[in-house]
Amino acid sequence: MSKTFFITTAIDYTNGAPHIGHAYEKVLADAIARHRRLAGEPVFFLTGVDQHGQKVQQSAQKLGVPPGEFVEGITAKFRALWKTLDIGFDGWAATVDPVHKACVQGMLQRLWDEGHFYKAARSGYYSVRQEQFLTDKERGPDGEFGEEWGEVVLVEEENYYFKLAAHKDWLLDFIDRRSACGQPFVLPGFRVAELRNAVEKLSGDLCISRPKSRLTWGIELPFDPGFVTYVWFDALANYISFAGYDPAPGAANEGFKVLRPALHVIGKDIVIPPHGIYWPVMLHALGFRDEELPTLLVHGWWNLGGAKMSKSLGNSVDPAVLAETHGCAAIRYYLLSDIATGRDADFSLERLVQRYNSDLANNIGNLLNRTLSMAKRYRGGLVAKRPSPLEDFVAGKVRDWEAAFAVFDAQGALQALMDIVTRCNLHVEETAPWKLAKDPELSEQLDTVLHTLAESLRIVSILLEPALPREAAAMREQLGVSSPPALSNTAWGGLADGHQLGDPVPVFPRIETAAE
Ligand code: ME8
Ligand code: MG
Repeated sequence: MSKTFFITTAIDYTNGAPHIGHAYEKVLADAIARHRRLAGEPVFFLTGVDQHGQKVQQSAQKLGVPPGEFVEGITAKFRALWKTLDIGFDGWAATVDPVHKACVQGMLQRLWDEGHFYKAARSGYYSVRQEQFLTDKERGPDGEFGEEWGEVVLVEEENYYFKLAAHKDWLLDFIDRRSACGQPFVLPGFRVAELRNAVEKLSGDLCISRPKSRLTWGIELPFDPGFVTYVWFDALANYISFAGYDPAPGAANEGFKVLRPALHVIGKDIVIPPHGIYWPVMLHALGFRDEELPTLLVHGWWNLGGAKMSKSLGNSVDPAVLAETHGCAAIRYYLLSDIATGRDADFSLERLVQRYNSDLANNIGNLLNRTLSMAKRYRGGLVAKRPSPLEDFVAGKVRDWEAAFAVFDAQGALQALMDIVTRCNLHVEETAPWKLAKDPELSEQLDTVLHTLAESLRIVSILLEPALPREAAAMREQLGVSSPPALSNTAWGGLADGHQLGDPVPVFPRIETAAE
């Protein structure tokens, strides 16, 4: 069976409403998935929600509602937002799903049977907010546990442990081999060293259980009903449970293997330790071969005014409200164009409006409008095919766009596309078609300009597809292009001689703000 490009995002924690950071990750993954579909590749894009855990249990308790009801409400908000933002996922990972639970329990049972877990009693300081035991490493210079840990309590309990440290040498070797063959386990590559250092320091094992006296809102251990499993063990498993993985020993998993290896799009805060350490070790213990292990595409952080977007700050930029006031296109375009993949950026509503108005309304919108208007006025909307002086320029920018997407650089890809538009608008100024139209002897030149502009716009409408699918389709409709968008159609010369263009309708109406 042929391989499917399998892309996932982190599953969002349903302890609070979605914020702009969540939206960014989904839009980035969506654009990458749409780019692969344009290239004709089969794609499976999985996203979803992380619904179990201590924080959810506590939040629900505070409101006096069952946790299942609590997460249902928040899950609905995420789903509605992804619909508004055109996130075209193929699979929905909600961890309360019985299929997921059965898979996680199968994994736990198998790892237990094969001797990867042991039971031990430990006492220690436990952060309720971070849902983890703390060691002296977590103490601040004053010897206290900092505010970031919230309430810290002394806990003495028996738990199940996963023999994580036993796989340390394998993991180091795996990370090194992936880097050596030019396919780093973590992208961008500058994050590999950071992960490697953390693995070098790995000593303890991973506690994978929580006694029900403390936490009931989780997946029960199949071999001990007194416990539920740790939320990360549950959450990470979504990447295989929702891809049809059968954890039974010796299962063939033929259909599932088509989805290997996966690309996990995640934020920089959840690399060390969950995705960079726990997850590859879990897969390795389950018998996954090294070449079946995923790649982590690690994106940076959206900050507000240089500060980490905490929950309260995050709520001040509610993406659902922003979509209503500024529209889906403005949000998607801003989140893809104003941050470099892997780096942090500062969120600014002013920049969002500015980028939309200058790049989309003024640059693309203006080119589309003037091209269709002139073609209609001078040629009844008919385009005559002519050799073009911009053919090579446009072809070069298509290659730049492709090279950028190959390294998940959506910003670079959008820049390449915008360069075509800017060059075309300049071409209009240079050639002044309104002057050419006055002189019958310059008729050939006018045809050449109109064809150049229409053909460039046709190509731009394909290149815009991953970022702004709705607007790209609207552009093609006005251009009279009915063939579905495909990368194979980005070669120059797709418009037939005598092609009929449509009428201009604004695709990117300007956003007017009080300040302007
Ligand atoms: O971590 N800028 O869930 P989560 C950019 N449930 N990205 C951000 C961000 C910001 N300001 N804030 C959060 C979890 N993110 C777990 C994941 S995966 C098996 C389980 C990103 O809701 C964050 O980095 O806290 C993560 O990738 C995603 O949003 C979900 O964060
Ligand atoms: Mg988080």
